Amino acid sequence: MNKNNGILISLEGIDGCGKTLLAKNLELELKKQNLPILLTKQPGGTQLGIGLRKILQENKDQTCPMAEYLLFAADRAQHIKNVIKPALNENKIIISDRMADSSVAYQGYGKDLDVEKIKYINSWAMQGIKPNLILYIKINIETAKKRIFARNEELTSFEKETEIFWRKVIDGYSEIFAKKKNVYILDGKMTPNQLTQIALDKILTLYNK
Ligand code: TYD
Repeated sequence: MNKNNGILISLEGIDGCGKTLLAKNLELELKKQNLPILLTKQPGGTQLGIGLRKILQENKDQTCPMAEYLLFAADRAQHIKNVIKPALNENKIIISDRMADSSVAYQGYGKDLDVEKIKYINSWAMQGIKPNLILYIKINIETAKKRIFARNEELTSFEKETEIFWRKVIDGYSEIFAKKKNVYILDGKMTPNQLTQIALDKILTLYNK
């Protein structure tokens, strides 16, 4: 087993796709195997990120898409510097619940910002780091909506955003990932256990290379 290289895996998908549960299950399984796992997320993987996440949530209604994007990009820059780079240097398996592609899908395709500009600023904020593997959980709007409502959260982003927005985000993800080679698409209708087994297999194959 090659323990000299850290690997970075990002999890992507619309709200309610099951990403966060998958992240936790993967962390559990990798820990069981005594592997050096670090679970993190965007936004919110650093102190600054926790603050930015709160600001974004509290000001959602009056924040324009450009300002929103730039705050996500600020979170991204800090996250790469404080969390991702050190963990890669420590040869960890890093799983990040969302990364740069979320901005392309949500702010770019979903909120009509210039996709090329977002990609450019993203690559600056990512400081030369790219995920080795992107796991994209693909799910339709109806299924995601049902799951989110079942969670009984107060006012979710599903109620705040329109159906058209979610359609654009899903189509955006499809377009972004059609051009990338390091993406594995997971069917969001699978059970959490099935999703975990498939994703785990992909990660271990990559790590053991
Ligand atoms: P979060 O509670 O983490 O949602 P989830 O568990 O679905 O990831 O909140 C993150 C929200 O921020 C989510 O709706 C996606 C959105 N987001 C963007 O719009 N752009 C971004 O660049 C990122 C990282 C997240």
